[in-house]
Amino acid sequence: MKEKVYIFDTTLRDGEQSPGASMNTAEKVRIATQLEKLGVDAIEAGFPASSEGDFEGVSEIAKKITNSEVVALARASVHDIDRAWKAVSQAARPRIHIFLATSDIHMEYKLNMSREQVLKSAVDAVRYGCGYTGNIEFSAEDASRSDPDFLCKIFEAVIEAGAKTINLPDTVGYAIPGEFGQLVAYIRKNTPNIDKAVLSVHCHNDLGLATANTLAAIENGARQAEVTINGIGERAGNTSLEELVMTINTRPTYLPVTTGIETTRIYRVSRLVSMITGMMIQPNKAIVGANAFAHEAGIHQHGMLQNPMTYEIMKPENIGLTTSRLVMGKHSGKHALHKHLKNIGYDLSEEELKLVFQKFKELADKKKVVLDEDLEALVNEGVLRTAELYSLTYLHVNAGTTVMPTATVKMMIDGEEKACTDSGNGPIDAAFNAISRLTETQCSLLRFSVNALTGGTDAQGEVTVRLKENDVIALGRGADPDIITASAYAYINGLNRLEYLKNNPARKADSL
Ligand code: KIV
Ligand code: ZN
Repeated sequence: MKEKVYIFDTTLRDGEQSPGASMNTAEKVRIATQLEKLGVDAIEAGFPASSEGDFEGVSEIAKKITNSEVVALARASVHDIDRAWKAVSQAARPRIHIFLATSDIHMEYKLNMSREQVLKSAVDAVRYGCGYTGNIEFSAEDASRSDPDFLCKIFEAVIEAGAKTINLPDTVGYAIPGEFGQLVAYIRKNTPNIDKAVLSVHCHNDLGLATANTLAAIENGARQAEVTINGIGERAGNTSLEELVMTINTRPTYLPVTTGIETTRIYRVSRLVSMITGMMIQPNKAIVGANAFAHEAGIHQHGMLQNPMTYEIMKPENIGLTTSRLVMGKHSGKHALHKHLKNIGYDLSEEELKLVFQKFKELADKKKVVLDEDLEALVNEGVLRTAELYSLTYLHVNAGTTVMPTATVKMMIDGEEKACTDSGNGPIDAAFNAISRLTETQCSLLRFSVNALTGGTDAQGEVTVRLKENDVIALGRGADPDIITASAYAYINGLNRLEYLKNNPARKADSL
């Protein structure tokens, strides 16, 4: 029988550290619920000591999730471990994840601690955490640039102190697969009590090698992989869950391991994370990119028609991509919508369904057929964005070849409706100027991009923006058949996220 690799998902913690990708508590809970259905073994829900928002996110997820372990991150300090436990203690299967840097460069310049002090702090922290739960993970931050013998020494000591998982992070994405695999083999050989803990790896993608490094580690005996959906995460991101899992599934004879992931849910969760974070998936992204299963060259298309396996190593339906999707139209009723949403993974309450149904009818009036992508956008915008500080209630633009573009905007701001008209270089600029005036905000627009959600000229436009106010960056996303309205939604979504970030200043650890 094949050995199992534990899938530890850190989309809600390391993934949320992607610049601008903040999520509020409701959004985090929604993702966690889907991650649990996907079958991940552990969900790292946040870093409770870093902000009130993180604390709340972890607590809410802990109350909701029953099958997957819920993990809270902590530095090696009493304060952080207390906060982590307070947030995660209600989980059916809680875990505390303690980290401390072990590379000479981090110990000298960041921690200002000697090896002996780091060893003692790690052991003290793990012992302290064990006072709360037997399920403690210890990470040697910057392990790939640490002295391997020091790593073995610290791992032996923390396992002795009670750690059940030891994690080897390639924090700065510096490792090369062959070398990283050898490091894992070395740790296994030279840590006397290694069989008492699960050996885990956590790779960053700075050189585009995160998935390759994780696979090399698994080939050499690592049995937990820390991953994120769509590979999002700090800087260039983390190992992507879908790449790792589909490699394991596609090459079963080469890799002697298995995972508990229900792969047919991958595409759905990938879209959800993209919609919620506002981080678009690059079209050529492996597994979940729009082009991942699109064959352009004639010779490929011919081969595919004869036998799909000529050019396709995986089936699109294995990740939940189906060609025979049900389309909904203006005559579809609430019951059919409810049933279809359930089929594509959204189990809405009566109240939520009411909101989405109303938006669905409005959209179906403008667009002949409503596809799954459209429905996903409606659910994410209709359900998740209801309790925000700013929302759009009216937009009218005047633009053309001979007129000065103007926009009249009405918004609910903290429960009160306000209106104003402004002008700009174009209708979108005019709408953004009016929104800035109404909200009295002064952020800069770092990026603006438009994408069609589906094919056809009546497709919904999906707009993403990246906004910056002082040193806070937030992404915003909006979708609508009218791209000026979609742009306004995206801008307002970005402002709501900026507001959230300003109220939850993450007390980030030095290297996080
Ligand atoms: O990259 C890293 O080292 C981390 C640790 C907290 C595991 O994210
Ligand atoms: Zn990391």
